[in-house]
Amino acid sequence: MPRNKSTPKIKKAKLTINENTYELPIYNSTEGESVIDISKLHSQAKLFTYDPGFTSTASCESKITFIDGDKGILRYRGYDIEELANKSDFIEVVNLLIYGDLPNKEQLKKYKKLITRHTLLHEQIINFFQGFRRDAHPMAMMVGVMGALSSFYQDTLDINDPHQRQEATRRIVAKSSTIGAMAYKYSIGQSFVSPKNNLSFSENFLHMCFSNTAEEYKISPILAKAMDTIFILHADHEQNASTSTVRLAGSSGANPFACIAAGVSSLWGPAHGGANQAALEMLEQIGSSKNIKKYINKAKNKKDKFKLMGFGHRVYKNYDPRAKILKKICQKVLKHIGIKNDPILKLAMDLEKIALKDKYFVEKKLYPNVDFYSGIILRAIGFPPEMFTVIFAISRTAGWTAQWTEMIEDPIQKIGRPRQLYSGNKLQKYGVKRSKKNTR
Ligand code: CMC
Repeated sequence: MPRNKSTPKIKKAKLTINENTYELPIYNSTEGESVIDISKLHSQAKLFTYDPGFTSTASCESKITFIDGDKGILRYRGYDIEELANKSDFIEVVNLLIYGDLPNKEQLKKYKKLITRHTLLHEQIINFFQGFRRDAHPMAMMVGVMGALSSFYQDTLDINDPHQRQEATRRIVAKSSTIGAMAYKYSIGQSFVSPKNNLSFSENFLHMCFSNTAEEYKISPILAKAMDTIFILHADHEQNASTSTVRLAGSSGANPFACIAAGVSSLWGPAHGGANQAALEMLEQIGSSKNIKKYINKAKNKKDKFKLMGFGHRVYKNYDPRAKILKKICQKVLKHIGIKNDPILKLAMDLEKIALKDKYFVEKKLYPNVDFYSGIILRAIGFPPEMFTVIFAISRTAGWTAQWTEMIEDPIQKIGRPRQLYSGNKLQKYGVKRSKKNTR
């Protein structure tokens, strides 16, 4: 039985190669597309499947997040993202993602206490930070310090012990916000601010970033809610690049801190979590609405590497539901801090309007994604662009740890090991040919 028993088998697909026909089981999803099981194909037909970028490949079975890209739907454990953004808070969402259903009042209270208890970092980690250059990107510090946690918390490295696994996930979620805030403080040359246990997760993050030894940061409930919503919206997104990286790293049995550090690295790229920083920098580069046409033309030009950052998505071929929520929050936040006419927000809205009518973007179904508006909000709260991806990483620790736990507990889990279409040399005789190029 190749799949979990919970996956109902509906029918078989037939694949004919030359004179041989192979029957491939099809499994129904509870919602969305079904999958064809090709796991026995190589042993039967001596062929691999070829799918660069995994555009047609389901790499695992999961009960955590559902996306309907055509309809613009995102749900965590069956709950619509908009409802969670309006009614829940980040720690409840973390609990939901990890445990599968909403906690009752007592469970939530206990869980919040546990997360709060874990926000402190080992004092030695401060020395670890001192090793970074002051101009290091905060994501470089996130990657390094997240991986280093495995040397500080050796009592939660045994992935076969469910108690240690749970404790590790709590440590990762809680400490990620402290590490992120420390990376920020280090990069601006201020001393670190300790977490405060009476604050919520989002308030505490704002406090650790913006309080200093001379002055306590006054937390506005509107900005704290905006921060919390950003955390909720980024908490999980199914089998994206960084989550798949976490699962692949974890499939070898690596410890959870090392796996999450791998996820942080993957998230850093501009096609993934780095797009929020890139989107704001792009808006600043465009500068004014009168330049929009020029940049839209650049984005459409195949010879030009320029892309509209914050536009397009592998899965959403409709408006990203997260972007819809953030657009509203963006207006609220700017109003709250007294920015009546933010030129960057105006430019973003003009750009969105023009792109959504442009034939190229319409035909390719390129809509604004979550990164289009998040940067404007984060900048208004007071974060520099380098911190945007760090904030994404802090939120995504929820999804990464939930997905990692699900993978470890999956009875059919095995080490991930893709194959390839080899197009290199056949056997060469040593020394017969040498390179004539001067480019190495
Ligand atoms: N600007 C201009 N053209 C684009 C864009 C864009 N932002 N996005 C896609 N296209 C074109 C692309 O050139 C391709 O054209 P053609 O079919 O002629 O070759 C077509 O649309 C399909 O795009 P793709 O690159 O094959 O799609 P993909 O699924 O491989 O990539 C993406 C998705 C998100 C990497 C891509 O849309 C992109 O680079 N967007 C900008 C970066 C960005 O905003 N990333 C954040 C993603 S959401 C947050 C997250 O999940 O991390």
